[in-house]
Amino acid sequence: MEKIIDGEKLNVPQHVAIILDGNGRWAKKRFMPRNFGHKAGAKNVEKICEDAWNMGIKYLTVYVFSTENWKRSVEEVTGIMNLLRNYLETSIERSNKENMRVRIIGDRSKLADDINQAIDKLEEATAGNTGLNFTMALNYGGRDEIVRAAKQLAWDVKTGKLAVEDINEDVFNSKLDTADLPYPDLLIRTSGEVRTSNYLPWQIAYSEFYFTDVLWPDFDRECLLDAVRHFTNRDRRFGGVK
Ligand code: IPE
Ligand code: IPE
Ligand code: MG
Repeated sequence: MEKIIDGEKLNVPQHVAIILDGNGRWAKKRFMPRNFGHKAGAKNVEKICEDAWNMGIKYLTVYVFSTENWKRSVEEVTGIMNLLRNYLETSIERSNKENMRVRIIGDRSKLADDINQAIDKLEEATAGNTGLNFTMALNYGGRDEIVRAAKQLAWDVKTGKLAVEDINEDVFNSKLDTADLPYPDLLIRTSGEVRTSNYLPWQIAYSEFYFTDVLWPDFDRECLLDAVRHFTNRDRRFGGVK
């Protein structure tokens, strides 16, 4: 969508996915524990949601905790889960005020019961909101998501609900956690790492990638605008010729 932002004509992506990375290094630079970085990172997620919506972005999907992040110390994982609890608790009021719809993707079966209940409450309370579609990937792994989708398809075939010949990309996509979301137009990763770390492998097949050295807690409106600027200059061909 074309939009004038700060006097500049930009092509604003409909759906932006972010791998928010660098919280630990941000804290280390300040001689603080890793969880200090996660706290600052969580605060920044709230801020960037507002900035994204004001820029005209309709969908924002952020990677909060991967299926591989359980490998970290108990202290760090507990800290992240407690931040999440706090976020979920305060989010209903804030999201409704901002007209934001919140969804969670990932394997919820390994999350604590109280967290799952808080997620249900938040998703229900914001389901009717028509502003930013904000999605958090929690205990999310792209390979895990694909395996779960494949299992569902196998069950549907086994129970006679689906014929093997009818499986196509749309049917497969309908079994993914992101079935209700458009594919991301732009994928951003902060902190200088140039990899996707199991994030949305199916969905980003034709996304534009933008990598920045900025650490997540420092990623502000100007940084997001810079990513949108780069996106504006990309020529998306989707395999065709222009
Ligand atoms: C991203 O920051 C947040 C999570 C993965 C939970 P990191 O914690 O990965 O920060 P670095 O990469 O160690 O700096
Ligand atoms: C990816 O970041 C996961 C999240 C941002 C939640 P990591 O910090 O876990 O990724 P690697 O280990 O550098 O690939
Ligand atoms: Mg990291």
